[in-house]
Amino acid sequence: MARRGLFITFEGIDGAGKSTQARRLAETLEAAGHTVVLTREPGGSAGAEAIRALLVEGAAARWSAETEILLFTAARRDHLEKTIAPALEAGKLVICDRYTDSTRIYQGAVRAGLRAAVDALHAQFIGRDPTLTFMLDMAPDAALARGVARGGGEDRYESMGAAFQARLREGFLELARAEPARCRIIDAARSPEAIAAEIAAETRPFLP
Ligand code: ADP
Ligand code: TYD
Repeated sequence: MARRGLFITFEGIDGAGKSTQARRLAETLEAAGHTVVLTREPGGSAGAEAIRALLVEGAAARWSAETEILLFTAARRDHLEKTIAPALEAGKLVICDRYTDSTRIYQGAVRAGLRAAVDALHAQFIGRDPTLTFMLDMAPDAALARGVARGGGEDRYESMGAAFQARLREGFLELARAEPARCRIIDAARSPEAIAAEIAAETRPFLP
């Protein structure tokens, strides 16, 4: 069970700046000579990208929370098999924009009890956790404004509204506080440069 690489994830509500910061961290680490695989969920492998299209497009009520959990877990399993595990075993650094914490919080927030289902599926079919998780935290209205400004057709989750986003924010914060060894809460309502500098400094002690 060689686990030579380093697995880092970015989490937080829509528009908090995860993709921006994941990309910046990848650039910083590559400039320092590391081999980085930058990836995202749902997606990150051909099969998982096909499942992504089912998940992020269409009406908000298209899938039940139970169906979503199964689809996200199926996508994650393919992503793990095809992309994440091979890269880590080759000693690469894997930076992933969203992972199981998103399923725990988004689908777990829909109804009490679903969080346990997410954890059980993760234990049985995924079984790999990141070493480091950056929780990008900011007020949902400001984050939502960024997301709306960005545009694009993948707005099924954004369309669920600000109250839902506020519950998600609390969920991510609670989860981060419960797992302080893995999670770093990052104030995401600052300049991209300031956030990137903090994230790079937090990552340095974990580098191979
Ligand atoms: P996420 O991946 O969390 O949804 P993105 O990285 O795609 O967020 O950022 C959402 C939008 O906000 C993009 O248009 C991006 O350029 C912008 N953005 C990202 N980080 C910041 C920041 N620190 N300050 C202002 N705007 C930002
Ligand atoms: P993403 O493309 O990361 O959205 P954004 O860039 O706006 O943050 O993810 C698409 C949506 O899927 C996002 O609203 C969060 C949702 N999602 C879940 O509900 N559960 C999950 O397990 C994952 C990975 C994403």
